[in-house]
Amino acid sequence: MKKTALLLFVFSFCSQTIFSQKEATVLSIKNTPNAPTINKNIYGHFAEHLGRCIYGGFFVGDTSKIPNTSGVRNDIIDALKKLKIPNLRWPGGCFADTYHWKDGIGPKEERPTIVNQWWGGVTEDNSFGTHDFLNLCEILGAEPYLSGNVGSGTVQELSDWVQYANFGGKSPMSDLRKKNGRTEPWKVKIWGIGNEAWGCGGNMKPEYYAGEYRKYATFMSDWENTGGLMRIASGASDADYNWTETLMKNIPGSMLGGVAMHHYSVIEWKKKGDAVDFTEGQYFTTMKEALKMDELITKHGAIMDKYDPEKKIALVVDEWGGWYDVEKGTNPGFLYQQNTMRDAVLAGATLNIFNNHADRVRMANLAQCVNVLQAVILTDKAKMILTPTYHIMQMYNVHQNAQLIPLTLNTPLYTYNNETLPALSASASKDTKGFVHVSLVNVDAKKGNKIEINLKELGIKTISGTILTSAKLQDHNSFDNPIKIQPGVFKGFKIKNDILELTIPPFAVVMLEGK
Ligand code: AHR
Repeated sequence: MKKTALLLFVFSFCSQTIFSQKEATVLSIKNTPNAPTINKNIYGHFAEHLGRCIYGGFFVGDTSKIPNTSGVRNDIIDALKKLKIPNLRWPGGCFADTYHWKDGIGPKEERPTIVNQWWGGVTEDNSFGTHDFLNLCEILGAEPYLSGNVGSGTVQELSDWVQYANFGGKSPMSDLRKKNGRTEPWKVKIWGIGNEAWGCGGNMKPEYYAGEYRKYATFMSDWENTGGLMRIASGASDADYNWTETLMKNIPGSMLGGVAMHHYSVIEWKKKGDAVDFTEGQYFTTMKEALKMDELITKHGAIMDKYDPEKKIALVVDEWGGWYDVEKGTNPGFLYQQNTMRDAVLAGATLNIFNNHADRVRMANLAQCVNVLQAVILTDKAKMILTPTYHIMQMYNVHQNAQLIPLTLNTPLYTYNNETLPALSASASKDTKGFVHVSLVNVDAKKGNKIEINLKELGIKTISGTILTSAKLQDHNSFDNPIKIQPGVFKGFKIKNDILELTIPPFAVVMLEGK
């Protein structure tokens, strides 16, 4: 395949001087022939049986007055299609290691119940099961990512699930699937083997889990001997590098499609703070935690490089996002939180980090899709709102499957109480139609930052821009005011002698498009 010449943007900044709006971070360009493609799966989502994500969120049942398709809300389906959601992880999370998939198939009225022991202790009727989820993914045009039960399940159970979902020939599981109304297999490619095996998934030691993984993976096949499954190992929490090292050392590369990693941006687990009513200090800490993602990926990636220098195995960040105290008056086990401009900045900066590590990070899942943690959609009975995070995911979907344009960014600093963070975050890509997209985030809560981009070597003739910004960091969309925060046209730039000059307002996200 012909390699497209790629462009290297180098942001440079005179870090010795004190940055003011009169001085600009300068972007210059070089060719980079082997830059990777940004896998669209980096823009994946996560739907756990948790609080009102599935029941009362996605799934209202086909007798609901809320317009639905086989019980799933049409407004959610439409919103997720617009997002170009590439994959959806289900049924957990911690729930996955308690879930027995056979309880969620067949006539709904005959299904046994399950007590959701991790999340609020509520009793579920299993009315949303394998068919409901996989059919939903088909409607969305998203790849399903099924999380298998290792903690309380069996090898046979998971092997049967793969056969049920994927086998086209005659077998006990494919016959059962047909009896339940589905002739053609769904051909599910992405499978997680347990979740957080070091914690809610079984409190296992990494050596023990590596052994379990090998056993489970052995009996999971696509049933057509094409080797088409992407099997993902339950990965480390944050900086548990020993976990990644142990898995990479003890699991043959041929059995591993991906190794997971989870990182939430939490101020303090025992005092996470309000999702809306927060101080600049809390914002700063949230952003510090979010920006740690870069170091985590770099260090987990370096370990993976030792065992897999060709980067065949993906690092899958299948849970990420901001985690705050639940909204007052809601069930503490339901993890319902509002979503502000803080979350928009967090999402923009995190997605830039993923894009810039596209060689190793080939999948990620924001936690979670509807009504839980850093949700893109919130519902209240028949009402539905899109959060600032939704708008970022939509603005950034232009990077899906585009070729990365690597950046070197020497950014000005955002200072708060004698602590500093990089103020600017950026990533860039070129899509198959030749459009260049540059996503820029100003993390600084107080100060606008100026950037100059040299357009000459890009051959760009026209530029347009989109911005997500608001007056206050705490601003959010609500059921009373669902469109307070929406992307707008960005006109805050000028071009002089092939140099594009722009100023990004505080805590704002800008997407530039050039051709
Ligand atoms: O996303 C919420 C929970 O966070 C998930 O169930 C679990 O995997 C993680 O600890």
